[in-house]
Amino acid sequence: MTQDASRPRSQRFSLKICDGPSCGLSHDSDRLAEHAREVIARDPELASRVSVDALSCFGRCDEGPNCFLQALGPHDDPDDEPGPEVLETQRGFYPGVDRDSLTRIVTEHGRTGRPIEALVDDY
Ligand code: FES
Repeated sequence: MTQDASRPRSQRFSLKICDGPSCGLSHDSDRLAEHAREVIARDPELASRVSVDALSCFGRCDEGPNCFLQALGPHDDPDDEPGPEVLETQRGFYPGVDRDSLTRIVTEHGRTGRPIEALVDDY
């Protein structure tokens, strides 16, 4: 797998997994978050740069469970929820994820910095 030359090797990401009423209760997003943490923990390179955090609701509940892989700036706090300017300008919104697609999002997008076009959607 090639790495995006424009992405510094130190690029940090926060994987925001929706924990809202639909994604959290109907789709058991806690288990998806746990799966993503396990995938990340198995890879020291990812573990040093990618965190998994909850987000309250993307407002696209019918398409859940949803997540957003946010590229963090040097001063961004992974615990902060991304504002509309981030959601609308970064290409990282993935609707309707499952364990397999989450694995790809973390290991492909998280490594290369390039969204997975077959899975990503405009926010
Ligand atoms: S509950 Fe997940 S998008 Fe609303």
